[in-house]
Amino acid sequence: MSLRVGVLTGGGDAPGLNAAICGLGRRLIAAGAEMIGFKDGWRGMMNDSTRSLQDANFQHLLVYGGTLLGSSGDNPYRDPATMVPKVLENFRKHRLDALVAIGGEGTLGAADRLWREHQLPVVGVPKTIDNDLDATDFTFGFFSAVEVATRAMDDLRSTADSHGRVMVVECMGRHAGWITAYAGVASGAEGILVPERPAHLEELCANLERLRASGKKSAIVAVAEGTRIYENGVCLSSMDKDEFGEYQTGGAAFTVAKKIQARLGWEARHLVLGHLQRAGKPIAFDRIFALRLGARAARLVLEKRYGFMAAMRAGELVDVPLQAAVAARKVLTDQFLDRYEGFFLPIGGL
Ligand code: F6P
Repeated sequence: MSLRVGVLTGGGDAPGLNAAICGLGRRLIAAGAEMIGFKDGWRGMMNDSTRSLQDANFQHLLVYGGTLLGSSGDNPYRDPATMVPKVLENFRKHRLDALVAIGGEGTLGAADRLWREHQLPVVGVPKTIDNDLDATDFTFGFFSAVEVATRAMDDLRSTADSHGRVMVVECMGRHAGWITAYAGVASGAEGILVPERPAHLEELCANLERLRASGKKSAIVAVAEGTRIYENGVCLSSMDKDEFGEYQTGGAAFTVAKKIQARLGWEARHLVLGHLQRAGKPIAFDRIFALRLGARAARLVLEKRYGFMAAMRAGELVDVPLQAAVAARKVLTDQFLDRYEGFFLPIGGL
């Protein structure tokens, strides 16, 4: 009997998901396996909602953003007593030999627990535009998001210059500043605010004022959605917590723009890039990276090496335990922040 492999894509979509399914599918089908897709992430495994991938035109698909399987943040550990047995039951019902979970922290966290607690034979593929998964240098989708944010900041230069304004651009990334840092440095932003360092408005405004005094007519400030903004030592960011007990993100650019204008009398506007950073076709790097990660995951399945995730370390593809990927969130390191000293707050002073 041929090998039967399930696959799901969970969490926020990221450019490259279809390419990862393509890399996985081509390798598995070439090895004689049957592929069953579960719709909308773990929800499809809980509700038994599937689609066959046997006839999928993989080569054609890898160009497109989004995911042909659909996605959701639903997770069996939301209600483990009733949902985990459903996952196990549907795995058996489809006579699967293995399951490939393509996702970020939440999706792979559930995969890891199902492997360790129930010996469900799972293999992981890391995706998230946030790039906050540990045990891999990068996740696919990240560089496509950086490209969108960089282009947006580049393009905003002309209108900022024309009107002599400060443009404050909010990037996604939840509690990690990777997208903001890469796009901010790449586009030469005059201010870069990230969650890894508290952002003091006094310091940001002093820097902007110095630049204005030196003749700058306009400025770009990149701010990560999860940045905590302080004024006079008081945090202005939301103190509300999300479902995971983390501070809610969003609204940072609005606050920063309003405060710059009030403190400096320098006209400021804000822009939230939002889901555009996840939208559209993946850049070529992400297509190839995702394709390779998918193919590597297929190899793990064929070798029956469960509980592992395909990853990138120092430019090479490697296999890492799922547990290592989800144990801690990968955020900007001091080493990274120091390397670009001068771009990030705090720059001495305060
Ligand atoms: O994790 C990916 C991400 O795009 C974050 O950067 C962002 O905070 C969040 O998802 C947005 O989630 P949603 O699609 O549920 O609005």
